[in-house]
Amino acid sequence: MTGQGSRKGRPLGWFGRLACVAVVGALAVAAVAIYRADSAPVPKAEPDKWSPPQFAARQSERDAMVRTIRRYGLSDKAVLKAMAAVPRHEFVPAGRSRMAYADTPLPIGHGQTISQPYMVAEMTRLLKLTSKSKVLEIGTGSGYQAAVLTQFTKHVYSVEIIKPLADAAAARLKRLGYTPATVRHADGYHGWKEEAPFDAIIVTCATGRIPPPLIKQLKPGGRMVIPLGAPFAVQSLMLVEKGKDGKVRSRSLMAVQFVPLTRQKKSE
Ligand SMILES: C[S@@+](CC[C@H](N)C(=O)[O-])C[C@H]1O[C@@H](n2cnc3c(N)ncnc32)[C@H](O)[C@@H]1O
Repeated sequence: MTGQGSRKGRPLGWFGRLACVAVVGALAVAAVAIYRADSAPVPKAEPDKWSPPQFAARQSERDAMVRTIRRYGLSDKAVLKAMAAVPRHEFVPAGRSRMAYADTPLPIGHGQTISQPYMVAEMTRLLKLTSKSKVLEIGTGSGYQAAVLTQFTKHVYSVEIIKPLADAAAARLKRLGYTPATVRHADGYHGWKEEAPFDAIIVTCATGRIPPPLIKQLKPGGRMVIPLGAPFAVQSLMLVEKGKDGKVRSRSLMAVQFVPLTRQKKSE
């Protein structure tokens, strides 16, 4: 006798039929759910979005620095917020830390300086940055200005001619979490051809004439700020605008004093 054989071909009882209906129903519900998941709109990637790091240390000193900048007449909220966010004390040598939030340039070694906070704020304001702006800085120095730029956009490229400064700034920006800022050791006179064109260019060292590669690498509709004048003399902060038609207009905004733009020898 084969007990199993005897069950073959026997019609399902009411319990069996109920179980079948339940299984088929569950499969149908699962299929609909999978279909819906597949056809649901995929959230759009936001390639320009990023969240800059936040720092609590010495916030009251930063706030006092921002109040000083406001007293100069700078009221752009986004710029003031950026200045209140970046920990300037992390960008100055340890021995200068006490002075980090004074409204003055400070030495950073190699005969160079971190610029006065008001000047950093005003030059940033003049660039009219958005989260989509691609910006080039010539003169990374400590990396502070680059960090301020990342408060507006993650597309920040900065060139520094002194290698130890370039290396230190790149490491500092990375350590602090300003990861979108890319630093390159090179002669900034030539700009950054591979990444051009730029919506904005900020030059933080003074030059006798605007380097032609920088004008070329500025997008139509773009803005450049650059100190123009002789080394160690009083210079003019120039705003250079390239029209949509490619025409370049520049105007002098104020007297400034920056360290000179130096040139790399061909063999370096
Ligand atoms: C006033 S400091 C810049 C301060 C800097 N933006 C900061 O936030 O610390 C000017 C910098 O321009 C650099 N520099 C001078 N000539 C340069 C060039 N041809 N290309 C790139 N950097 C240059 C100097 O070495 C110096 O670090």
